Amino acid sequence: MARLKVAVLISGRGSNLKALIDACAAADFPAELACVISNRPGAAGLDFARAADIPVAVIDHRAFAGREDFEAALDEAIRGAGAGLICFAGFMRLVTDGFARAWRDRLINIHPSLLPAFRGLNTHARAIESGVRFSGCTVHFVRTEMDIGPIIAQAAVPVHADDDADALAARVLVTEHRLYPLALRLIAEGRARVIGDVVHIDGARPPEAVLLNPVDDT
Ligand code: GRF
Repeated sequence: MARLKVAVLISGRGSNLKALIDACAAADFPAELACVISNRPGAAGLDFARAADIPVAVIDHRAFAGREDFEAALDEAIRGAGAGLICFAGFMRLVTDGFARAWRDRLINIHPSLLPAFRGLNTHARAIESGVRFSGCTVHFVRTEMDIGPIIAQAAVPVHADDDADALAARVLVTEHRLYPLALRLIAEGRARVIGDVVHIDGARPPEAVLLNPVDDT
């Protein structure tokens, strides 16, 4: 079966990109990375793509008069690479309604919280301040509004009483690197169907474990 061609858009470190590269290296993985695009010339993650011989492009948003022009350049590069799906992986630009509509249900993002909680930036600090006992990450289809859109998959982690934002971020990031390849696989296999605002996953199996935090020692 033909593998789904994917464009990954980054702005920085690229650890989620690396997780997707590693997943795609498996012969039976149903997707391949057709290009990696960064809006920042110095994005460290570009090196992961170069090391894996994936075509890279730098499309610096500052070189364009406006958002539409920038997105037109993105669109051209993505289509030129033959990609049918876009993965945002730490891509720090909001998209216009036009771009979101053009790529509706073919554009996904990973966010480091259990959406719809803690949309936006500084998620881990806000999660700790709010006192939630669990946090995690979410892969979702992108809509025009930031960090909103049909949820494909989530991973949950406990928040520890002595966590700071860095400690929680590190615990969540480990799960991001497992969740993003899973979500990509489900889409590439054609198992994720968007019905209304909800994603239905064919053959999905829920986890059996229930977590209490703190644990019940009684
Ligand atoms: C991740 O935490 C991701 O959830 C968020 O931005 C961060 C990107 O990290 N959207 P990396 O560049 O993939 O290492």
